[in-house]
Amino acid sequence: MTLTLQEKITEATDFIKAQGIGEIEFGLILGSGLGELGDEVEDAIAIKYDGIPYFPVSTVEGHAGQLVYGTLGEKKVLAMQGRFHYYEGYSLEEVTFPIRVMKALGIHSVIVTNAAGGINTSFSQGELMMITDHINYTGVNPLIGPNDSTMGPRFTDMSQAYDVAYQAIVRDVAKKMDLDLKEGVYIGYTGPTYETPAEIRMSRVMGADAVGMSTVPEVIVAAHAGLRVIGVSCITNLAAGMQATLNHAEVVETTERVKGTFKALIKNVLQAV
Ligand code: HPA
Repeated sequence: MTLTLQEKITEATDFIKAQGIGEIEFGLILGSGLGELGDEVEDAIAIKYDGIPYFPVSTVEGHAGQLVYGTLGEKKVLAMQGRFHYYEGYSLEEVTFPIRVMKALGIHSVIVTNAAGGINTSFSQGELMMITDHINYTGVNPLIGPNDSTMGPRFTDMSQAYDVAYQAIVRDVAKKMDLDLKEGVYIGYTGPTYETPAEIRMSRVMGADAVGMSTVPEVIVAAHAGLRVIGVSCITNLAAGMQATLNHAEVVETTERVKGTFKALIKNVLQAV
């Protein structure tokens, strides 16, 4: 018997609730090297992905592979330490399954974070960028297929996928922290290759400021589910052609260096919203 998506969501949700999870306001997706924020969750309950029905298992180095429930910035959160990527071979239904589950658990908003390459020539390695919009350059869309109208509309409006009222709050929080928070458009590729210099020049012309291999599918499903989204990229490197070579070790090194500021920003944002 093949289960419907709704049945899988219900099973995963029931399992997670049974671990002692109460009310949740915010989902948090912690990107490559940024998972440590999950360690600051107070009164934490951790749930390994591999025990949750229908949850994929994260394979990328620098991802812990668990949910952490508790309090952060005075809000009840469920943080994902590690996410799933299309390039790992998961279907987009699998990649975005945690968003569906968090929605079913009662979140109204999600903070999505990632490591990204800087395309905007005014960005420096180690800066943080608030995502104001994205370009789906993956060539696929997680909403392709039959639409379950109990989950969201057939045609989802992406005009304000990144919540505009939240953007104003994030801006304000950064200002109070004296943080030079950049803003811009994230372009999502599937990976797992980094982009070519020509692709980066093209992306810049198209209006992208940062590039990565995640986030876009999750934000599309969040929009479908009516969730409010905050997006933050850590600019871990300059994009292809703007520095000599690219590698994952540098991405992790940069997140390591910036994580203090990153953690403070997200905690302060949670406190302010
Ligand atoms: N490209 C794609 N994904 C990334 C990059 C990049 O330059 N840096 C970190 N994640």
